[in-house]
Amino acid sequence: MTAEPRPVYLNGEWCTTETACVSVFDRGYLFGDGVYEVIPAFAGRLFGLEAHMTRLARSLDAIGIGQPLGREAWQAIFDRLIAALDAPDAAIYLQVTRGAPARRDHAWPDTSVRPGVMATISPVGGIEGGARVITVPDQRWGRCDIKSINLLPNTMARQQAIDKGCDEAVLIRDGLVMEGAATNLFAVIGGRLLTAPNGPRILPGVTRGLLIDLARRERLVEVDESFISIGALREADEVFLTSSTKDLWPVVEIDGKPVGQDERAGRVGPITRLLDRHFQALKTERSEP
Ligand code: PDD
Repeated sequence: MTAEPRPVYLNGEWCTTETACVSVFDRGYLFGDGVYEVIPAFAGRLFGLEAHMTRLARSLDAIGIGQPLGREAWQAIFDRLIAALDAPDAAIYLQVTRGAPARRDHAWPDTSVRPGVMATISPVGGIEGGARVITVPDQRWGRCDIKSINLLPNTMARQQAIDKGCDEAVLIRDGLVMEGAATNLFAVIGGRLLTAPNGPRILPGVTRGLLIDLARRERLVEVDESFISIGALREADEVFLTSSTKDLWPVVEIDGKPVGQDERAGRVGPITRLLDRHFQALKTERSEP
């Protein structure tokens, strides 16, 4: 399948997905030394932009890369990317690496080496049906709160799920549920909504944060940011995943067993539906011109 060439901003220049070229010495390419963001665009408007830019600044700061562009320069790039893509749902992918020094060296280059900056846009397809997930050991590092481009354990976990005919892998550490390979996880247990607390063991998802604020503001359900044991996950009444490209994605099966009990087993639950309805309304409201 050949996709239409799309615009790419690369180190101060505009090119396309067919012509963009990255140096073989770029530290993102050699070491995974960089951070990224995925910012959803809905009806031609970015959603959750402030939170994504705040997280980008935090990730850059955490790994000692200076902010390469001012806010207006970023905005000009986003505007041009959005104007170029005629799709109702899209996502901007941006990444910042520690640049391309003249030779490979684990030690960081001096500040004369400019960060590598890349941004592009892609259409996002809607999700179809509920997610079937597997649980796998979390093999990532101790700073999962940094949105690092080092995603090897995440890709391995996701591929394990795909190889089993499933959609996502849920990462388990010390018997507790952290998050998905590229999603946060929520469970409804005893009428309360539980999700792992922010900290070094999960990514502070923008969708996660917006949803928790929404649930509390509109008093939709009581939210408890505390770890869920794997046993409690298996007994949960409802489970769903969140991310910028998937919104709320109901989980219908975990390790081959349907989520929920009795006649509700394997079906999308009422609290998930309620939250999704409010979340879609928030998206429309915040995304209108
Ligand atoms: N992934 N946890 C992990 C490990 C993630 O990679 C992501 C996002 C999330 C959800 O975060 P947010 O709501 O801010 O998108 C949680 C993006 C979409 C990706 O890597 O493509």
